Amino acid sequence: MKLWGGRFEKGVNSLVNDFNSSIRVDSRMYKEDILGSLAHANMLGKQDIIPEEDSLKIIAGLKSILERIENGVIKIDESSEDIHSFVEGTLTYYIGDEGKKLHTGRSRNDQVTLDTKLYLKGALIELSKDVINLQEVIYKKAEENVTTIMPGYTHMQKAQPITFAHHLLAYAEMFKRDLSRILDCYKRLDEMPLGSGALATSTYNIDRNMVAKELGFSSITNNSLDSVSDRDYAIEALSVLSIIMMHLSRFSEEIILWATNEFSFIELSDEYSTGSSIMPQKKNPDVAELVRGKTGRVYGDLMTLLTVMKGLPLAYNKDMQEDKEALFDALDTANLSIKTFIGMLDTLKVNKNNMKKGAALGFTNATDVADYLVKKGVAFRVAHEIVGEIVLYCIKKNLAIDDLSMEEFKNFSKIFEEDIYAAIDLVTCVEERKVFGGPSSSSVRIQLDLLKESIKNTKEAIACLK
Ligand code: ARG
Repeated sequence: MKLWGGRFEKGVNSLVNDFNSSIRVDSRMYKEDILGSLAHANMLGKQDIIPEEDSLKIIAGLKSILERIENGVIKIDESSEDIHSFVEGTLTYYIGDEGKKLHTGRSRNDQVTLDTKLYLKGALIELSKDVINLQEVIYKKAEENVTTIMPGYTHMQKAQPITFAHHLLAYAEMFKRDLSRILDCYKRLDEMPLGSGALATSTYNIDRNMVAKELGFSSITNNSLDSVSDRDYAIEALSVLSIIMMHLSRFSEEIILWATNEFSFIELSDEYSTGSSIMPQKKNPDVAELVRGKTGRVYGDLMTLLTVMKGLPLAYNKDMQEDKEALFDALDTANLSIKTFIGMLDTLKVNKNNMKKGAALGFTNATDVADYLVKKGVAFRVAHEIVGEIVLYCIKKNLAIDDLSMEEFKNFSKIFEEDIYAAIDLVTCVEERKVFGGPSSSSVRIQLDLLKESIKNTKEAIACLK
């Protein structure tokens, strides 16, 4: 059903109809649209703007439409202009002329932003639960690998020994910040826009707070022009999603590297790998590659909406209809990416020996040799120079620093004693880094406890959201 037409003499060109229509995208908001209409109809009746019995008839009609859509009796008709037209048209079809009173004191401009906000509130709660599930898998894997030594890198060059738990917990911190961004975004979008009308509210004695309360919003928007023009919340959600995807993509890149024959730090489960149609030996990390690839797609969605909005004068402009396709695409992509990633991470096998071997090569304990000298009174810069010479010597002789004899050590500095061997053992190198935030098992256990605490607090915070 068209919601307008009175002032038109000719029907709309069919291509324009198609071009103008958003139902294929916004039909997924049918529930939010109906819930918004229920609250609006209730308020119209309570405020005597429409007769109470009409309001009750509308409410009963809307409830039965919701039920029939959910059990498949009513199919959303894609020839409608949008989900708002469809619901209102279906209501009038079912209950008759009283249905035509529903749109009193309301416009699709405030209605669409209400629906999108309601939808996004639910989606952000779901998203935060996914991210928490991811954190729980990271926690589990980290707990299993507190003493799994691996090389840490800078510039993709071996740097210092760390543990796999320490490395994993770095990602837990990123996802912790992502969760706080999700909740922050939720907080800001939790303002109810209905009642703003097309742009300038209405002359009816509406009660916006009553609608907000019924729909579970914490407050109402302050300015009607802003209410119908604002898409910050969608942009903010897209930017949160982009950052989450960026984190997942970095993690994926590492998983891809670790699964190579060259690294062999991990093995992906068959369930989360794919084969090659030509090379029988192949086991490819497609899940991680797709997460990395789909990150570009989510960035694209963010860029779409930023660009759509950048030149729009107040208030509503039809350009803004483009918001939902980008938003839903990013939500769907991130949702599937996180869920699949969780399974891949949960089932991967850690090759502890190869990680340790990786740390034993490449002079990851060179800093510790310098630190040994410093602790015996040598200035760090001098110690650095001495160890540089030791490394050069080892490279020429194809040795690890640990392989040097006491005599060879003494040739570089008389300060070296027998205790050098224990000081540069990889376990010592890791365990002596007890600084808060570091890789020692004591520091990592603190990080694990903090993660557990933060997961618990976030779950509680989410449980309070409506
Ligand atoms: N389908 C539109 C959208 O998604 C709904 C609002 C249309 N308002 C209007 N006055 N044409 O933005």
